Amino acid sequence: MTAPANSTPMIGANESDPRHALWPNYAPPMDLVFSHGVGSELFTADGDCYLDFLSGIAVTSFGHAHPHLIGVLTEQAQKLWHLSNVFRIPAGERLAQRLCAASFADSVYFANSGTEAIEAGIKAIRAYQAGQGRPERHRILGFTESFHGRTLAALAAAGNSSHMRNFIPGDYGFGQVPWEDEAALEQAISADTAGIIIEPIQGEGGIRAVSQSFLQRLRDLCDQHDLVLMFDEVQCGVGRSGTLFAHEHYGITPDVMAVAKGIGGGFPVGACLSTEAVGQHMAFGTHGSTFGGNPLAMAVANGVMDLLLEPGLLAEVQRKSEFLRSGLQRLVEQFPAHFASVHGRGLMLGVKCVVSNTELLAGLRANKLIVGKSGANMIRLLPPLNVSDAHLEAALSIIASTLEAMPESS
Ligand SMILES: Cc1ncc(COP(=O)(O)O)c(C=O)c1O
Repeated sequence: MTAPANSTPMIGANESDPRHALWPNYAPPMDLVFSHGVGSELFTADGDCYLDFLSGIAVTSFGHAHPHLIGVLTEQAQKLWHLSNVFRIPAGERLAQRLCAASFADSVYFANSGTEAIEAGIKAIRAYQAGQGRPERHRILGFTESFHGRTLAALAAAGNSSHMRNFIPGDYGFGQVPWEDEAALEQAISADTAGIIIEPIQGEGGIRAVSQSFLQRLRDLCDQHDLVLMFDEVQCGVGRSGTLFAHEHYGITPDVMAVAKGIGGGFPVGACLSTEAVGQHMAFGTHGSTFGGNPLAMAVANGVMDLLLEPGLLAEVQRKSEFLRSGLQRLVEQFPAHFASVHGRGLMLGVKCVVSNTELLAGLRANKLIVGKSGANMIRLLPPLNVSDAHLEAALSIIASTLEAMPESS
């Protein structure tokens, strides 16, 4: 077979470069290798220390090498890693009960990633409608600039044409309307609509929190038409926004919710939570996973829950958020030719840049601060939920000195 003319070259200068053995599906990774991490800090083998305000993209919710998580992981690792869902897994039952007790949900399905949690939710939406005797209701509506993951249905739910190209013929039973466009949404709801999916705070597409009135409109429309409302809290959930789940800020609950990333603190775990009305339709044989909810994953996720449910933790996230947000706001005022505005909630903050976010990211990295990018020329700050005040101050001062040295026009 010949390489298509527009294919991405393999990474690595030649075949002896170990990166050459990897698919080139990611942007060439930075040539930076970390040997270990502690809390919010990452270290290279040479002892260089970087501040990690990316957290593996909102994954290492309690930083690196947290003693409690090491404890639960190693204890379980010495006992039992994997079984199969043909056996009871008490730690999974316990985690499900804890998640339900702390949320709108009545039951949970465990997966290994965000996109799988989304996939399960999509099936649950359709299973619900079929269970009402309306199998023709299969179409799910979402919003532009969303991101729900990389499996085929998750791609189709977000509708990003550059992600879908060559992989998905047609729309796969999904549609998107512009963000917060009530009229377009109402018009898009038809006899084949099954449900609506939304990230209460968009992550990849730009750190963008939905408005109270629009989320309420979604809830009302779903109630009116008996549609299933699904929240994608893969990135914004699990304490990240300053409440256990982001929708708590609104006092509006979904019927289905996907979480992942932070719930495993770095161990691959995904979960799809639902009300009884929806979950009961995911009957025997409708879905499953070899690895989902295995004893090792459940031990770690319960460990994360221990930390999340510690009294005062979420209040601390909100306090730290205010500290970071006001520091970033001061930088917006101090550097108007570089920074435009601060967005987001909790420790999921974005700054819309005037300068190129790519160049700023490189400058920050050179100054030993790791942050992420997001759509709409933003930088994204996702420090661990237990980040220290000293590290917040250090990050703000690195950003200030990087901006100071950065030409306005770049
Ligand atoms: C909002 C949202 N949904 C779903 C996903 C997919 O999660 P995963 O990469 O674990 O499959 C992501 C990942 O970035 C995400 O941010």
